[in-house]
Amino acid sequence: MARIHFLTGNEGKVAEAAHHLEPLGHEVIHLAIEGIVEPQAEELETVARAKLDQAKAHLPDANDWLLVEDAGLFVEALDGFPGVYSSYALSTLGNHGLLRLLDHLHSEDLHVEAGLRRAEFKAVAALMTPEGVFIGEGTCLGRIAPAVDGEGGFGFDPVFIPRDLDLSGQPAEIGVQGEVSTHGRTFAAVDVDLKGKFSHRTRALKDLLAQLGTPE
Ligand code: IMP
Repeated sequence: MARIHFLTGNEGKVAEAAHHLEPLGHEVIHLAIEGIVEPQAEELETVARAKLDQAKAHLPDANDWLLVEDAGLFVEALDGFPGVYSSYALSTLGNHGLLRLLDHLHSEDLHVEAGLRRAEFKAVAALMTPEGVFIGEGTCLGRIAPAVDGEGGFGFDPVFIPRDLDLSGQPAEIGVQGEVSTHGRTFAAVDVDLKGKFSHRTRALKDLLAQLGTPE
C-alpha cells in the first residue's frame, strides 16, 4: 500500500483516481508543481514519461509513488489531430473550429457518416514506483458530431458522440445498438454518470491497476 502523489492541475482527476485506488488501500495526494514543461511529442506516453521525470525530484519520500495522466482527442480523418495538442487546439480552434475542419465529411447514410467522422479519446496513466514505471492506456471510441450539442462536460465533450457499449463495456460495431448508449447525443448532453461508463481515463487507471506487480 502506497502514498501516491498525483501530478495534475485538476482536483476532479484526483478525486477520480482516489475512487479507484483508495479501496485498494493506497492514499492519493494532490501534487501541484509550477513550471512542468510538456514536450512536443506525438505520443501521450512520451508526454507522461517526461512529466514523471520532471516531477520525481519533488517526491517527499523515495518510497512514495508518482502518478501522471494525459489525454487527448484523436480524429481519424485528421491523422490523429489534435491528439497531444488537444488543450492547445481547444483554446485556439475550439469546438466550432474542429467542426469546420470536418465540414466536408457528410453522408445521407448515418452509418457511413459515423465512419467518416470516426474519432477517439485516449488517456495514458503513468505510475512511477520504486519497482519501475507502469503505463496504463484507455480508449473511448466514437465520432465527431455534425454540430455542437449540449451544455455540460468540458473540453471537446460538446462535439464527441461515443460509440455504444455492450454490457461488458466493449464498443459495439458502428450502426449496432449497444446496451449503454447516449442515443446519438454528445458527452456534453448526457449526465456524468453515463459519460463515466465510457471514460478513457477510468479505463487507463484500470489498465494500470491490472498491471501492478509486473513492472517493466
Ligand atoms: P488532459 O491531458 O486530460 O488535460 O486533456 C488534454 C485535453 O484533451 C483537454 O484540454 C481537453 O481538451 C481534451 N480532453 C481530454 N479528455 C477529455 C474528455 O473526457 N472530454 C472532453 N475533452 C477531453
